[in-house]
Amino acid sequence: MDDDVVRQAPLFAALDDEAAGALRATMTRVDLMRSEILFNEGEPGDRLYVIVDGKVKLGRTSADGRENLLAVLGPGEMFGELSLFDPGPRNATATAIADTMLIGLGNDDLVSWLSGRPGVARQLLGALARRLRRTNESLADLVFSDVPGRVARALLDLSERFGRPTDDGLRVAHDLTQEELAQLVGASRETVNKALADFVARDWLRLEARAVVLLDIERMRKRAR
Ligand code: CMP
Repeated sequence: MDDDVVRQAPLFAALDDEAAGALRATMTRVDLMRSEILFNEGEPGDRLYVIVDGKVKLGRTSADGRENLLAVLGPGEMFGELSLFDPGPRNATATAIADTMLIGLGNDDLVSWLSGRPGVARQLLGALARRLRRTNESLADLVFSDVPGRVARALLDLSERFGRPTDDGLRVAHDLTQEELAQLVGASRETVNKALADFVARDWLRLEARAVVLLDIERMRKRAR
């Protein structure tokens, strides 16, 4: 397991090596294959998860069956904490979009870790605040930006987590199908495909299977504004 990645997670950030090791020992490992569902929206939840390796999408389904993706998370990120801090059903469905390894912490263990450790609680509050900020930005994007702008923003956001520099650009292996990318930006697949094709024609990016290579990040940033 990649310890450095786990130590970046907000849950571990305020702990010294010894405490981090002890916390780690109380957590259970879960392995998921691509497309496997960890939990469904509406189920009771009593466990939060930290991603060690792989990727997880968090999505919601409307009454008429349409899907919307709230986020795509990668190594070092945490999810599943809402139903612990505010007891209630799971707010979204969590599905692996690549082979994924997680470690999970149950409610009772979390409560005992938080008591007497204000540093850990502060880190978790910081993570929740960052998520609220990002959610507000996505909401404003949905209202104020056109689809190409939202696609550009989503790809840049994914590049911060999954981008790897290559000779000709930043390769972002997002592992999303075009349908899932459309669900992430809240638009139809056709409109998202058109936006992507336009970016390709302008030489701003190159499409690969479940990945893009960003060739002109400055132009993409301007388009995302
Ligand atoms: P929980 O409700 O227990 O299960 C679903 C999880 O999805 C939730 O906890 C959060 O951890 C996560 N989640 C919900 N909404 C968002 C969002 N807007 N951005 C990122 N993660 C989210």
